[in-house]
Amino acid sequence: MLIRDFTLADAEQAIALWQQCDLTRPWNDPLLDIERNLTAQPGLSLVAEAAVGDSPEHPATEVVGTVMLGYDGHRGWMYYLASHPKMRGQGIAKALVAEAERRFESLGCPKAQLMVRGTNTQAVGFYQALGYEVNDVLVLGKRLIEDD
Ligand SMILES: CC(C)(COP(=O)(O)OP(=O)(O)OC[C@H]1O[C@@H](n2cnc3c(N)ncnc32)[C@H](O)[C@@H]1OP(=O)(O)O)[C@@H](O)C(=O)NCCC(=O)NCCS
Repeated sequence: MLIRDFTLADAEQAIALWQQCDLTRPWNDPLLDIERNLTAQPGLSLVAEAAVGDSPEHPATEVVGTVMLGYDGHRGWMYYLASHPKMRGQGIAKALVAEAERRFESLGCPKAQLMVRGTNTQAVGFYQALGYEVNDVLVLGKRLIEDD
């Protein structure tokens, strides 16, 4: 498994993975999310790529994990963390988060954090196992651009 930069060429496979992982929402256009992230913070977000082909000479590789990253000068944010449903428990997400933390640190970012629905106990358990703590805050938002 290889952890590398997320590029626009990964968008199709990443979105297919997010759909499998129930991470897409009707009010968010995932391709626009990718394009905006890669424009605003090029070279920060990550994919995990693994061979899925059965020929050892020419193994087909596929995006089996993602995390989109943004450092806003205060915190390093993680979005769209996902690992392939058939490859869970193999350390894909842990490796993605470890590399995300390394990248944030190298930018001088003091803290990594994320937003997750309270009902997503799987993700909350995963992050807690990596030392992340639940903070008692409300997240307020206001949409500035209405996407079609
Ligand atoms: C959450 C998710 C990314 C975890 O991916 P994964 O590849 O299975 O995680 P890993 O294999 O890297 O697990 C790393 C460690 O966390 C532990 N862990 C994983 N899920 C856990 C849970 N729910 N509770 C406690 N520990 C957990 C693993 O046991 C492992 O521990 P180890 O290093 O001691 O062996 C994956 O379940 C997923 O894609 N979920 C759907 C998408 C999603 O909800 N994303 C979060 C958006 S905020």
